[in-house]
Amino acid sequence: MPVPLHGLDPEAFPAAYLDLLDAVSFRAAAAGARLGVFDALAGEPLTAEQAAARTGTDPAGLRILLDALAGYGYLDRDRDRYADTPHTARWLRTDAPDSFVPVLRFWAAVLDHRWGDLEESVRRGEPSGDFYAWLERHPDTLADFQTMLRRLAAHLGDEIVALTPAGADRSLLDLGGGHAGYTVAFLRARPGLRATVVDLPGALERGARTVAEAGLADRVTLRPGDLFTTDLGHGHDLVLLCNIVHGYRPADVRTLLRRAATALRPGGRLTLLEPLADVPSRGPGPAEAFVRMFSLNLFHTQGGRAYGMPELAALLTEAGFTDVREAPLAGSDTDHVVTALRAPA
Ligand SMILES: C[S@@+](CC[C@H](N)C(=O)[O-])C[C@H]1O[C@@H](n2cnc3c(N)ncnc32)[C@H](O)[C@@H]1O
Repeated sequence: MPVPLHGLDPEAFPAAYLDLLDAVSFRAAAAGARLGVFDALAGEPLTAEQAAARTGTDPAGLRILLDALAGYGYLDRDRDRYADTPHTARWLRTDAPDSFVPVLRFWAAVLDHRWGDLEESVRRGEPSGDFYAWLERHPDTLADFQTMLRRLAAHLGDEIVALTPAGADRSLLDLGGGHAGYTVAFLRARPGLRATVVDLPGALERGARTVAEAGLADRVTLRPGDLFTTDLGHGHDLVLLCNIVHGYRPADVRTLLRRAATALRPGGRLTLLEPLADVPSRGPGPAEAFVRMFSLNLFHTQGGRAYGMPELAALLTEAGFTDVREAPLAGSDTDHVVTALRAPA
């Protein structure tokens, strides 16, 4: 954590004061990433004037930002020269493997542009607008969002495939499949399978790239459309709903699950990926804090929330599914796989 909190007397500071410092530290790190400061410092240590010349910024303004970043622990400062710390070099340069920069930029954009009216959605019980329409209008943030999710799919995909019982499946429908990372994991593992990915047009641009890079374009149909109105076909053996359900309130989840059930053949299988709320074995800590933050963001920006397993199981049963099973993932401390069968005819 950038602000050194250890050793402080909890009675001497309101927690919100420390949170203010953390909030500013996060915002300053986002500014550093957006302005290319951490990349500019990748070589030798630089003065503020040299770093300003490389980043096209004002030397006086940049010096103040650099001093703040040094104060928060993102940069080392030696007299008038600044350098990335080893931690910053590992996570906040754009060329670092698994760079955190797309995640940092995405969440900074959400907080900057979507959270200003948080109180209104809590007051009214309605989301602040159409989050995905907003994303489609902001290609840079959409690219960061899909990169973040694509990476997660590369990390979790094989485990999700392994937790989805294999049959003689031929047809996979990936609803809201966007970057197509989960589709690719299934097609690689199951050679007899073909897939249709349904998503909004901007999201599918990333999907087209993933599928082409995997050399699987001849086995995948990318179908732009709305999950609630597009013809999803029927007779599919397997439907994926990865990170979709939490975007909607229960009535819409019911509709979506019924549409998934109708698209499956009787006896076909649904696989959901969801960060679950109210997991008894998950104590206080970063995973629980993330799920609560995520749920608040979902409610505010989309009208959804993180669901608990009993509620999700009830929604699946109401939509015509049986044999509902849940499994935690070794690769994630927040995400769970839930599978269910469309009741046989
Ligand atoms: C949280 S992302 C999940 C992407 C992917 N399934 C994953 O788990 O990484 C939600 C996806 O649903 C898509 N989406 C949201 N609302 C949609 C709608 N009404 N119709 C089609 N796609 C939608 C978004 O574009 C986005 O790609």
